[in-house]
Amino acid sequence: MAGIAMLGSGFIARFYADALVSHRRPDRIVSVYSRRTESAERFAKDYRVPVWTTRMEEAISRPEVDIVCISLPNHLHEEAVMACVRAGKAVMITKPLGRHAAEALRMLQAVEKAGIFHGYLEDLVYTPKSLKAQQLISQGALGRILWAKSRETHPGPHSEWFWNKELAGGGAIIDLGCHCVEIARTYIGKDIRPLEVMCWADTQVKPIEAEDHAIGLVRYANGAIGQFEVSWTFRGGLDLRDEVMGTEGTLWINNFLRTGFEMFTSGKGTGYTAEKAESESGWLFPVADELNELGYQHMFTDMLNALEQGHQPRETFYDGYVVNAILDAAYRSARSKQWEPVQLEVWRGQTEVHVDRTLPDYDEHYYLVKEETTHYGARKVILQDKKTGEIIERVLS
Ligand SMILES: NC(=O)c1ccc[n+]([C@@H]2O[C@H](COP(=O)([O-])OP(=O)(O)OC[C@H]3O[C@@H](n4cnc5c(N)ncnc54)[C@H](O)[C@@H]3O)[C@@H](O)[C@H]2O)c1
Repeated sequence: MAGIAMLGSGFIARFYADALVSHRRPDRIVSVYSRRTESAERFAKDYRVPVWTTRMEEAISRPEVDIVCISLPNHLHEEAVMACVRAGKAVMITKPLGRHAAEALRMLQAVEKAGIFHGYLEDLVYTPKSLKAQQLISQGALGRILWAKSRETHPGPHSEWFWNKELAGGGAIIDLGCHCVEIARTYIGKDIRPLEVMCWADTQVKPIEAEDHAIGLVRYANGAIGQFEVSWTFRGGLDLRDEVMGTEGTLWINNFLRTGFEMFTSGKGTGYTAEKAESESGWLFPVADELNELGYQHMFTDMLNALEQGHQPRETFYDGYVVNAILDAAYRSARSKQWEPVQLEVWRGQTEVHVDRTLPDYDEHYYLVKEETTHYGARKVILQDKKTGEIIERVLS
């Protein structure tokens, strides 16, 4: 059982608290910090937290606190991590780790130097569908992964600080791209080095300085491509989709909008149906168990088990740092309109990647390019001559 200090009492702090104290979990939130007394007190009442305060250090340093959960706006992440380091407390932090890689690296180095437990709360790699997909991929069901796309788009975030480029560190790329990049890394292999990024970004709709829409490609050392699609201008709710393509298969995941639960209502008696839903009438797409479907339950189970058992969780500050480095390259590319290198001062994955590109043999003279049965009943093979490289076709029946 862990005693948790919650820093922040807003949107994500409440999702986290719901996940942490629901389903009779033994863990307890033992203190909460918020900017304003009223919100700290309201949160404390809602989640039966015995100590609430407007002083961050006070929430962190109490002896009953085993781990601190940072749920504060992006510009306060570093300050909060450094406060945990000074107090020698284990820490888990929401995404993104930093507003840029330099900030993330300072946090990574500080927690590692202090020797404290650190977890990166990237919930979307812990959704039940993602966990199953990762298992199938690790068994080889998709073969060698060639492309992993992740899309997160919605009509824009819920608090003013997100829309301030300086406080948030950017717009849709830093806010949503951090999820998509880590999802693609998980499918492609977190030990495979991201090399370079090509990104388009624009401010198409909103009256803000930061980008409200972006698409990026991340090229990895094994030749795989990660793709992220992010937007704060998407209409119709929260679209969370992944697609993975490999040499042996394909996988599509819809985590949120279309989960097989659809409802029509005139609007009478409707309230909250799902995060970022834009309408309360007509055809709606409720999400049955958001805490689970967004990965919070499995994420905290991993984090708190790791803390208790003395090992690292699956997602650490190091992952947050790599994500920030990829996003920095995306921002540079959006400006330069060129592929930009991912600058990683610290790289802990593979340094030499062997890619198995064995060509599929057809017989001793030919490689097989393609085999197909057509609508008119012909079974055809397309072959490449091993000696001359010539491409030929044979109709077998
Ligand atoms: N799925 C996810 O993982 C997810 C979803 C949403 C937000 N987040 C992240 O969680 C963090 C907090 O976002 P949120 O949506 O809870 O924001 P929010 O605005 O709803 O809540 C922010 C909280 O921080 C406190 N705070 C303290 N000092 C503040 C200051 N100077 N300015 C503003 N707030 C201050 C506020 O009192 C509030 O309790 C961000 O890093 C965000 O990226 C993660």
